[in-house]
Amino acid sequence: MKMNCDILSSKGLWGGRLLHFDSLSSTNLWAMENIKTLGHGDVVWASMQTEGKGRFGRKWISPKDLNLTVSVIIKHGKAGELFTSTITQVAAITIAETLRDVSLPAMVKWPNDVLANGRKTAGILAERDTETGTIVLGIGLNVNMTMEDFENQNLLQPATSIKVETGNNHVVGEILNTLLMHLDKQLSFTSSEEYVFPMDEWDKIDFLKGKTITVSSGEVQTSGHYDGMDKAGRLIVTDQAGKRHEFWSGDVSVRANN
Ligand code: ATP
Ligand code: BTN
Repeated sequence: MKMNCDILSSKGLWGGRLLHFDSLSSTNLWAMENIKTLGHGDVVWASMQTEGKGRFGRKWISPKDLNLTVSVIIKHGKAGELFTSTITQVAAITIAETLRDVSLPAMVKWPNDVLANGRKTAGILAERDTETGTIVLGIGLNVNMTMEDFENQNLLQPATSIKVETGNNHVVGEILNTLLMHLDKQLSFTSSEEYVFPMDEWDKIDFLKGKTITVSSGEVQTSGHYDGMDKAGRLIVTDQAGKRHEFWSGDVSVRANN
């Protein structure tokens, strides 16, 4: 496949580069395959992905030029343990901040969703290259998709975009700049000694707060009261018998009686 790529120095994060492609299979996949050529703070942006992916090999759809699909490179040695385990949730907060800047109130849903009016507007897929320890932080944010664009996509949960919610088109590159500004602010303290997860910010916009939920993790389903997230990023559920359960990963659904 022919790949057009513009490289802009110092337009990524922390002096990193911004690599802009017309089309890639997946920004995460490309970053993982080219990890040794990428530096801390480099940002890989594609105007279109042909094989965008979510967790567990699920598909992330994003028609050409309509949405933001981007991966941020965070190099080994710069990231402390607590930071690494909560990177997805920190990214969710920065996406919500970005949406707020275009007058769209948004909420975060553990582990990796950002919702507007209860519908999924953005998703995050953080992957780690085991050899180098580098984190590839993938973000998909629906910007100019219309309801017609979502039709027949067989999405597993209702989705929306900035345009659907606000009625306004946005320049995707401007949304990226705003997102990078918020990421810069939230991700600047990445070493374990300095890093504290912004729990207050998460709490204020936590979609699951006060809800009864079911967590599916592998074959096991656990229902109970959502008791927030701990500082390492684990979801906490208290079941009817009062037993506390902690989850590093899983799918969360909200019980109908909420
Ligand atoms: P779930 O959607 O089941 O809650 P999830 O939100 O944690 O899972 P993943 O497990 O990463 O996300 O799976 C990707 C999910 O995103 C799939 O449910 C897929 O239907 C949905 N999806 C794909 N593309 C988009 C999009 N552009 N906007 C919103 N949702 C999308
Ligand atoms: C989710 O479904 O919630 C996670 C979706 C993550 C999508 C983004 S788009 C940029 C990056 N490249 C990918 O293939 N996936 C992530």
